[in-house]
Amino acid sequence: MNIENMGANSPFIALNDDAVSIPLPPAVLEAIHLRKYFPLRQFKLSGPRKVVHAAEDTSLALYPGRALALVGESGSGKTTMARMLARLYEPTSGTILFRGEPVKGNGRNALKDYHHHVQLVFQDPFSSLNPVHDVRYHLKRPLRLHGHARTATEETEEILALLNRVSLSPAEQFIRKFPHQLSGGQRQRVAIARALAAKPEVLLADEPVSMLDVSIRLDVLNLLLRLKDEEQLALLFITHDIASARYFAEDTLVMYAGQTVEGGPSEEVIQRPRHPYTQLLISAAPDPDRLGPDGKGSVTLPARGEIPSLINPPGGCRFHPRCPHAMPVCSERFPKRTELGGGHWAHCFLYGDGEANPASYKPIAVTPSRSSEGRGKGESGNHASPEVEIQGNAALPSDVSAEG
Ligand SMILES: Nc1ncnc2c1ncn2[C@@H]1O[C@H](COP(=O)(O)OP(=O)(O)OP(=O)(O)O)[C@@H](O)[C@H]1O
Ligand code: SF4
Ligand SMILES: [Mg+2]
Repeated sequence: MNIENMGANSPFIALNDDAVSIPLPPAVLEAIHLRKYFPLRQFKLSGPRKVVHAAEDTSLALYPGRALALVGESGSGKTTMARMLARLYEPTSGTILFRGEPVKGNGRNALKDYHHHVQLVFQDPFSSLNPVHDVRYHLKRPLRLHGHARTATEETEEILALLNRVSLSPAEQFIRKFPHQLSGGQRQRVAIARALAAKPEVLLADEPVSMLDVSIRLDVLNLLLRLKDEEQLALLFITHDIASARYFAEDTLVMYAGQTVEGGPSEEVIQRPRHPYTQLLISAAPDPDRLGPDGKGSVTLPARGEIPSLINPPGGCRFHPRCPHAMPVCSERFPKRTELGGGHWAHCFLYGDGEANPASYKPIAVTPSRSSEGRGKGESGNHASPEVEIQGNAALPSDVSAEG
């Protein structure tokens, strides 16, 4: 199925500023117009049923050997998306495609087959392991369930191999340890090994390092990247920290209050953010590569207010009550996806309303930055970003550092 115009990330790898691109292999997993409404418990019998509009018409695609970062503030719907993709939540509407075919069936066997291919790593390594069982128990269950170990010898060999793959060595020592004998980073490695035990093609990692000590986050992220490359895993990497997306994911998708607002190659989205919400996120996640030509730069995106309630979300573009560029049309309807060139797209009336031809957009004021020097207007479309300057001084994502 063709996912263009569905809000998914680009099916092309952008190679350089001249938008040379090569086609990607077919997507392994796709979300097509997924929507999730959670009904609220109500004591009144009459009146309309209230729901939380957690994800609205959201599409994405995951490719072998490639990571997609899903970024947004708390409550933007990231975990809801991951849980729908893992089939832990039934979508209110929309379709999930695995290798181009709609996934069907909610029975035990159908879900077991699906989880053979698609695995979720949870945010909290402390609650995701059972404290009364050792590492062997946690790893042997998925090996047996998915038919990857039939004898005790095979089981031990597979478990030791899994522990080595997640760099828990000497593996012979870790196999008998209980969760309370492991550090947070070691537990998350066991959780990753448990997901790998199914031999999946897709790994959904929901903020896999956010509960770990800052000193070990980079190690665990690098482990995920190594596994993605070595095993050609399609990786969904959920994070609050948009700066880390640039380092750890080829593509980035930005969500705000249940709506996907911008996406494309991470380098494009993060170096040249177009949607005012993405600019706001980036302004809060400093990066030295985005310093202005004077070496200083200043963050000036005066977003007002807070994330809206998803029980009664604002109409149209849900960012409009906070957006410094909001226009009357913004509260009337959600803008269609506008292609910005090089696989970069946005849902924002500042750049049009779904037109495919960038030349038709009206440029607005732009402050040049070092990263945009030398890029002619035509190189990634004729768009100019709303005025925003970014400053920063961190070489690594704001909440990540190398182990000392
Ligand atoms: N099971 C549920 N029942 C009702 N509402 C829910 C449920 N799960 C999530 N929500 C609501 O859906 C919205 C999106 O939640 P979600 O957990 O997907 O956000 P998130 O982007 O993962 O946030 P965080 O970064 O804090 O993890 C929130 O308003 C949340 O309260
Ligand atoms: S659509 Fe309107 S309100 Fe939404 S981000 Fe764009 S300008 Fe702002
Ligand atoms: Mg979450």
